[in-house]
Amino acid sequence: MAASSSSNKSKQVLPETRPITLREGVIRRTDRHINANGRISFKCIPSLVDHYVSVLETQFKILGRPYAPTEVAQLRANVLLKLEEGWKASPYSRVVVEYKTDPPPNDGLSYVVTARIYTLPELYKEWVDTRTPPLFGAHPDCKVMHTAASLGAPQDVPILDIGAGTGRNTIPLARAGHPASAVELSPALVQILKKTAEDEKLEVKVIEGDILDDNLAIPENAYKLVILCEVVSHFREVSEIRCLLRRLAPAIQPGGILLFSCFFSHDSYTPDKLSREASRAFWASLFTRKELAEAIEGFPFERIGDESVHDYEKEHLPASAWPPTGWFAGWASGYDVYKLTSGRTPIELRWVTLRRV
Ligand SMILES: C[S@@+](CC[C@H](N)C(=O)[O-])C[C@H]1O[C@@H](n2cnc3c(N)ncnc32)[C@H](O)[C@@H]1O
Repeated sequence: MAASSSSNKSKQVLPETRPITLREGVIRRTDRHINANGRISFKCIPSLVDHYVSVLETQFKILGRPYAPTEVAQLRANVLLKLEEGWKASPYSRVVVEYKTDPPPNDGLSYVVTARIYTLPELYKEWVDTRTPPLFGAHPDCKVMHTAASLGAPQDVPILDIGAGTGRNTIPLARAGHPASAVELSPALVQILKKTAEDEKLEVKVIEGDILDDNLAIPENAYKLVILCEVVSHFREVSEIRCLLRRLAPAIQPGGILLFSCFFSHDSYTPDKLSREASRAFWASLFTRKELAEAIEGFPFERIGDESVHDYEKEHLPASAWPPTGWFAGWASGYDVYKLTSGRTPIELRWVTLRRV
């Protein structure tokens, strides 16, 4: 009796026939058979770990493979480890996440996180290979030319251009009659600089290497002017500015000038870790004026100038030469770091002039 009553009941369960409900059921089943793989890479800015993890979480969810909280925590730990590894090696590194759905019957998603290290010479080589010259603009910096001219007759004003790039400043200085030397880190740019000097039969001494490397010999008491244009924006730490000053103090003649461009944060803004990391990752390393003052302490330099590079160059370049490149005005005003919808950024590229006392 009992058995026949139960079989009657099961016969009474009617099949689902509503198309919408069935469609949902098919999709639920089919989602497990989505086969996807991909690659997402992020700039190595460790302070953005939570943002990057949320991008990944969203992506995994879109593929029908949402991560449970414990899996997200593990993902965060893995991404952070590689962000820190890449950041330590170079602020231009990237973290790469390669992911793929697991084959059925598994319904998960696996990933591998790696750090891809990019060095500065490697990136400038890419500029040389892919961009149309002139890479840094067709004109020398007006501030450089004015400062050089203020120091005496060109033949009496030897100049060292550090991080000279393709020689945007070195070549016009040599043409003007200055004994000109250059230090440059990136071999691809050294080649261009040397060739231009040779083609024009200009005597330019080119030293290939890193100015922060103590093994790179710099002649003593040799220069009336040393310039670093758009170079300190690649430095990572204040200690590197101190290293620069230590190396240049013996090289610059008393009364001579060290002129460099450098991103300062506005005095009303105290940069946090994120701003500092992002500024380095976007080739616009910011420093505070206080940090520069501390870096100078104990070295025979006094600060005699602090001017906006953007405003100085815009005022003195011929109108037809402004802006020097498509990226210059935005970069020099901090917009490569902050994409703001209102207001100005709290950083700006400044001409800093130090006199060797
Ligand atoms: C944005 S480019 C500017 C080139 C040139 N000064 C100009 O204004 O046209 C920066 C240059 O600085 C060089 N550089 C960066 N750090 C350096 C270092 N520590 N020693 C020597 N060169 C460096 C780079 O290789 C690159 O050529």
